[in-house]
Amino acid sequence: MIDLRSDTVTKPTPAMWEAMQRAELGDDGWRDDPTVLALEERAAERLGKEAGLFLASGTMANLVAILAQIGRGEEVLAEADTHIIAAELGGIAALAGVPYRGLPGRRGAMDLDALADAIRGRFSPQGLRTGLVCTENTHTAASGAVLPMAHMVAVAGLARAHGVPVHLDGARMFNAAVALGVDPAEIAATADTACFCICKGLGAPAGAVLVGPRAVIERALAFRKQLGGAMRQVGILAAAGIVALDEMVDRLADDHRHARRLALGLQRIASELVDPAEVETNLIILDMRPTGRRAAEWAADLKTRGVLSAPKGPWALRLVTHRDIGPAEVERVLEVFGALWRERAGVLSAAE
Ligand SMILES: Cc1ncc(COP(=O)(O)O)c(C=O)c1O
Repeated sequence: MIDLRSDTVTKPTPAMWEAMQRAELGDDGWRDDPTVLALEERAAERLGKEAGLFLASGTMANLVAILAQIGRGEEVLAEADTHIIAAELGGIAALAGVPYRGLPGRRGAMDLDALADAIRGRFSPQGLRTGLVCTENTHTAASGAVLPMAHMVAVAGLARAHGVPVHLDGARMFNAAVALGVDPAEIAATADTACFCICKGLGAPAGAVLVGPRAVIERALAFRKQLGGAMRQVGILAAAGIVALDEMVDRLADDHRHARRLALGLQRIASELVDPAEVETNLIILDMRPTGRRAAEWAADLKTRGVLSAPKGPWALRLVTHRDIGPAEVERVLEVFGALWRERAGVLSAAE
């Protein structure tokens, strides 16, 4: 099987297995697992922040970042299709009890006029005070789009002018840094807190790290405990995270190159399905609507031929490159998709 459902499907690298086996362990509930502390320190240093906190997942990192920074009755502002608003099963409302507003955007970048209009530094009868502005880079629903530096700087400027902190959901922020050719700390500097996942393109088995000011991270630690996220000898996972940070960042450029090659090949097969110019990192979202067949049907057909893909809604079919996808896998997927396309095109035109 060639698995293009997500970049979370990879297994640990040999270096990760070795680091996991040798990791010095303690009880992170007591904050004495040296490997967890080392990962947190490494992540904070790499992103130019005071402190870090290891968490079970990106979703939990976002949730504790919100809980640690928002005051009672304050609202969160974010682009409407962000993972926090659209893909975390309402945790922000159900678990954090926080009101939020989704703002319009383009390819994941919030409309700055809409943000300027919505943001409030004070409570008033006209609206809630804004407690936090959330950005997402890369933006998952926008096919892994990269928010430009100028946009992130503008969002931070607006938020800071109103005394409002910014949280960056940087589940794939290292992909963004590689695509932009900037130091990840430059991206993190446009936010007060930032989180990233070690288990996506970076290839570790599980976990995320939240970084930010020490006082916020101390609050986040309390909320992590409240959510049941205090794990014990979890240095076993953090060890793989250290390898991920040290060895797996630069190779993300390969994933981006392979995604682009795949998108170009798919466009050659069926130009209406994808615009390769919109594939900036490792996520491709095909729009299957012009075929009249639903994404789930295409996914089922591809599966019978050895390719796993992820339907996202009725028409969107997601393909994600990662370290197990090389040039040979890309060519194989193009062959499979091309053959299927020719067969289905025959069926579709016969039905017309
Ligand atoms: C932008 C973004 N944020 C957060 C998450 C959640 O990460 P996790 O699956 O580790 O909870 C994801 C998952 O894909 C994501 O794409």
